[in-house]
Amino acid sequence: MKNNLFGKSLVTVELLTKNDVDLVFNRANEMEKLVKLKGGDDRLKNKIMAALFFEPSSRTFSSFITSMQRLGGGFIPLNNMQATSAVKGETFEDTIKVFSSYANVLVIRHPEAGFPAKATKYTNVPVINAGDGAFGEHPSQGLLDLYTINKFFKGLKRITIVMVGDLAHYRGVKSLSKLLCLFSAVKVKFVSPRALRITDDLRDYLKAKSLNFSEHEDLQEVINEADVLNVTRLKKEYLDEDLYNKLQGSYLIDLNTIKKMKKNSIIIHNLPKIWEITREVDDDPRAIYLTKQVRNGMYVRMAILDLILNS
Ligand code: CP
Repeated sequence: MKNNLFGKSLVTVELLTKNDVDLVFNRANEMEKLVKLKGGDDRLKNKIMAALFFEPSSRTFSSFITSMQRLGGGFIPLNNMQATSAVKGETFEDTIKVFSSYANVLVIRHPEAGFPAKATKYTNVPVINAGDGAFGEHPSQGLLDLYTINKFFKGLKRITIVMVGDLAHYRGVKSLSKLLCLFSAVKVKFVSPRALRITDDLRDYLKAKSLNFSEHEDLQEVINEADVLNVTRLKKEYLDEDLYNKLQGSYLIDLNTIKKMKKNSIIIHNLPKIWEITREVDDDPRAIYLTKQVRNGMYVRMAILDLILNS
């Protein structure tokens, strides 16, 4: 299979083909075997990744670092830009140019949508978008969610995916939904309060790509159809305080909710989760957000780095 990702940036999933996704899945499967067998190898020896995180992160930051370590590469870990020359007023453009001189790939998270795309104009090295703004994307998250779903429902045929919560501000939801357009037999049901519905641009994109989707306000209407329940956090950082307080506690996923789900379904979450899933649900075998999904994130990021950095 031809590696079309080599040397390319990954700013949006919109440019990925079904072949690209299959390539990532196959490589991630290889990474899983590699890690289980011997922890990793040296295929990214002498390659350096700069992780430039202008916004907080636990998983994305540390799994990209771990992925690089497991493949023998080096990394520049900047996850607190308050401790860098950015606070002295250095421009984003200068920062990108400087780190491009040190690194073979830049992984960028930014509070404003469009900044990873902007970075590609200032550098000749590939840029991976690690989440941009309230209305941007999170391609590696979308890919790891898709990989996780595909592990359980091979080929992604005739399954129903219910996504619930703050769908307006969830960049992982945006990337995953766009990727699902590559799988024509999948049905998606978006469940959210009116104020937090998927954005108009995403709705237009999904319609243009003929994704089979519907929008709902009542989770009870659709919960029994879910093969996959993708739960999201209300993004307090992007919400008006009054609206957040009003919506806090809505769509709570508790034992009563998951009782209505199919026995062979799965529950995923991009994390961090706050109150939207009760502690008891974590112990249900269908809840894989703290275990398999997180682990898959590392395999998928290892695959992405390998495909981008190795022809
Ligand atoms: N899922 C995710 O992006 O988590 P972090 O914000 O911790 O990286």
